[in-house]
Amino acid sequence: MPDPIPVSSRAASIEYAIRDVVVPATRLEQQGHTILKLNIGDPIAYPGLPTPSHMVEAYAAALSNGHNGYSPSYGLPALRQAIAEDEQRKGWSANSDDIYVCHGVTEALQLIFAAVLEQGSKVLAPGPHYPPYMAYPQMYGGQTIEYKLHSRDGWRPDFDDIASKMDDDVRLLVLINPNNPCGTVCGADDVDRLLAIAEQYPNCIVVADEIYDGLDFTNTHVSTASRSTTVPVIALNGVSKVYYAPGWRIGYMALHDPTQRLSLVRDGLERLLRSRLCASTPAQLGYLAGLTGDRAWMDAYASRVEEQRNHCLSRISQIEGLEVERPGGAFYMFIRLTDERWANDDKAFVLQLLEEEHVLLVHGSGFSPDLGKGHVRLVYLADVDVLDEAFDRIDEFLQRHRK
Ligand SMILES: Cc1ncc(COP(=O)(O)O)c(C=O)c1O
Repeated sequence: MPDPIPVSSRAASIEYAIRDVVVPATRLEQQGHTILKLNIGDPIAYPGLPTPSHMVEAYAAALSNGHNGYSPSYGLPALRQAIAEDEQRKGWSANSDDIYVCHGVTEALQLIFAAVLEQGSKVLAPGPHYPPYMAYPQMYGGQTIEYKLHSRDGWRPDFDDIASKMDDDVRLLVLINPNNPCGTVCGADDVDRLLAIAEQYPNCIVVADEIYDGLDFTNTHVSTASRSTTVPVIALNGVSKVYYAPGWRIGYMALHDPTQRLSLVRDGLERLLRSRLCASTPAQLGYLAGLTGDRAWMDAYASRVEEQRNHCLSRISQIEGLEVERPGGAFYMFIRLTDERWANDDKAFVLQLLEEEHVLLVHGSGFSPDLGKGHVRLVYLADVDVLDEAFDRIDEFLQRHRK
């Protein structure tokens, strides 16, 4: 065999725990087993939370009406306007020129990192966190440093830790609110504390990932941009989670620039956006229908998700070996493994549970090797019957391995 052609080290070092555990699950499925999948944060992967039909119809109509060409690089003007109005409702004076439509928040992140990071730059992000915040910055010469979330205080940010890790190399300070994987919701006080720290560093931009903002069961969520009068904020959001259409790959970044310091970054972002042409045109029209249409359906969806959260909290409280902080939003819980054996090896727990009980979770160390270890992430969107069956099996598994 000839030697394989080398791969770049930046690609070879990428890990995405959420999808990595799917490989052994797929093997078991190929052997004919049914897997109870509580691993993936895709609402469409679970029954009962379909993309609203008026959005699907608008997408389909866009296809049949010939909206199949490229669209403007920053997004369709009507969509940028609708997003700006939505951000205004969240409490700040967004203008349609501040909105840039992307192929999901994930593309927005890559563009932001490309536009801001230089060799030696740092991204200060919560630990545990959604994996791309760790995977991508290194591709642009930067590195991600984690700030602690308090594992026994609802996974709230540790502001002393943030303050101690800030320096002039931190170009992006990230707040994921509500948080994936912990479900933490930060209210006005927490957001203000974070902004007060960022304010001391003139070249730092706050990245506010608010993709789960419509799933806040505490009624305390605030838009970070709406709280900032001095610090530049890039708000991220889109169609994937609260509009239940992640496969459409549409999201946006909204630039809040209260002291007019983002002109160079904005220019860089615009160059990057033009160089990658545009986001999907018909999908943008589907999202537009979601933003401009009736939203009464959203409350019904959120209530269902909240009920499932409550059911899971009650089940977990009865299982020896598991503990959980009550998540305030999103659709995740980050469960603590209290049996020493599993607390020391959450990945072994996930893989063995999968092999023996055919239940699929994600290991917490995949969301932060240090700050996530000893935990597993559960997505609580499956039907209650499936969740109950999964909890029964997890309980049996824990008991069997304790003997
Ligand atoms: C915090 C967070 N941001 C962004 C995304 C992905 O967003 P998008 O589908 O818009 O790329 C996810 C998906 O799980 C997420 O959890």
